[in-house]
Amino acid sequence: MAELTIGEKDFLLDGEPYQILSGALHYFRIHPDQWADRIHKARLMGLNTIETYVPWNAHAPRRGEFVTEGGLDLERFLRLVAAEGMHAIVRPGPYICAEWSNGGLPPWLLRIPGVELRRAEPQYLKALTEYLQAVYRIVAPLQIDRGGPVFLVQIENEYGAYGSDKEYLAELVRVTREADITVPLTTIDQPDPQMLADGSLPGLHMTASFGSRSTERFATLRQFQPTGPLMCMEFWNGWFDSWGFHHHTTTVEESDTALDEILRVGGSVNFYMFHGGTNFGMTNGANDKGAYVPLVTSYDYDAPLDEAGHPTAKFHAFRKTIAKYAPVPDEVPPPGPAAPVLEVALQERAGLLGLAAELGAARDADHAATFEELGQDTGFVLYETSVEGRAPGVLTLDEVRDRAWVFADGVPVGILARDSHERSIRLPLASSTIGILVEDQGRVNYGPRLGEEKGLIGEIRLAGEPLTGWTATPLDVELLPGLDLAGRSTDHGPTVLTAEFELDAPADLFLDTAAWGKGLAWVNGFDLGRYWRRGPTRTLYVPGPVTRAGVNRIVVLELEAMAEPVARFVEGLSLGQTEF
Ligand code: GLA
Repeated sequence: MAELTIGEKDFLLDGEPYQILSGALHYFRIHPDQWADRIHKARLMGLNTIETYVPWNAHAPRRGEFVTEGGLDLERFLRLVAAEGMHAIVRPGPYICAEWSNGGLPPWLLRIPGVELRRAEPQYLKALTEYLQAVYRIVAPLQIDRGGPVFLVQIENEYGAYGSDKEYLAELVRVTREADITVPLTTIDQPDPQMLADGSLPGLHMTASFGSRSTERFATLRQFQPTGPLMCMEFWNGWFDSWGFHHHTTTVEESDTALDEILRVGGSVNFYMFHGGTNFGMTNGANDKGAYVPLVTSYDYDAPLDEAGHPTAKFHAFRKTIAKYAPVPDEVPPPGPAAPVLEVALQERAGLLGLAAELGAARDADHAATFEELGQDTGFVLYETSVEGRAPGVLTLDEVRDRAWVFADGVPVGILARDSHERSIRLPLASSTIGILVEDQGRVNYGPRLGEEKGLIGEIRLAGEPLTGWTATPLDVELLPGLDLAGRSTDHGPTVLTAEFELDAPADLFLDTAAWGKGLAWVNGFDLGRYWRRGPTRTLYVPGPVTRAGVNRIVVLELEAMAEPVARFVEGLSLGQTEF
């Protein structure tokens, strides 16, 4: 019976010192037909382990559900890891951060009156117990002592950066052990004394997250944990990107030096990320440290494998460094082929506002109901009210979460953007209705704003007088690719456009969005995610398995304006300007 234990200074695999060389792969950010390829490439870099988070909100869109189909088939993912002869680390949260919407916490949780997140609060504990039990029903039989790949499980995630409720951590351990998880349990914290003290619990093995100055960071960790293996559970070999900022990279040399410092002292490592993948659909998170900053669709992360799964210079450098300490297979993955280049004019059009009734059921209330009150987990809500007989003036909102397009009698009059702290706009003309289309651009995944509501928060006034009597329509934009758009009316607002294009064979594609405004795009019904002219990202990655030989269909929801209504597929990724 195989087992992993915590030794005096090493992990012990069946009693022998074992250096964990792990790579993070988020199965929920990779098309399931590509899982095996990415796992195989991890082994080719010399890795012996795959680590993944588990996103509660994706598996449980509603309480009581635990979806495991297709891209959420955690069991299949772990079996593929085993088939490659590798071990697995599972980090089920329940909070995962990860630049993922709400750090993985499901929106329905926020609707429980009085619920307190990430604390020993009974309602929160009850909900997470249901979730963890569902995860561990999959993970427990796949532990190493039962012939499976899983040999470590993490409790919470960087808890010391958020709270210090030890009772909460102890409850998580209790639920985990009662669900028959027998492998060692770990915690992770940033190597800061306060965070390490707050985020740890006796009996759990402490690990750290960092991307540079490894020797110094391990020394800090040692102060709190005098014995046992040193592990960097998140070796930040790159970084994520946010809309409106440059594309983040770390140099190969910088990362490689930091890696060598870890391996040289026999430390264990988990590359965060080995391959980042993509925030498909509307799954991205956001940061808010005084200003709201949503994250881009690409989770390329400047990782050893790029967003499309191809090796970068980092892959080769890390493989060489790993080879100094451990055996590395001879096989090397080939560079990515150039993708098919083609362009097609976007033709059929329909105004989004005119489709609203087909995308959701309108609800009336005195105030503009929040997304939570409407049960709209993410995406868009259209708010409308009558202003018949009112003189034009300044429209003022208390808070916009996160972006509002304002219409007077269906004509766009302007945008209020949370990231620019905008909340008032002058209505130039008298009109009989006002419409406000609101987008949730991604729920905050780190810090005190975790779990906040979405929509138009507080009062809405016109010329100082409250506006009441609102109709709110939650729009399920995922229905757009299934609608017949022929003969629809167009208007001046957000527009849905489509086109067909042909491929000789299924292939990865890179959709160039540089000439577009802001919106979402689908290929053959698969939601590629958000695009935005602000950049830095200029391409949306289309995984080959969603394409087909013959006719393919693209649907685009353009919320603002396209400079050119053309869908252009280019050779490769364009992630934007770097700082260098
Ligand atoms: C922390 C979190 C991760 C991720 C990284 C930044 O380490 O634990 O989930 O958010 O920061 O990419």
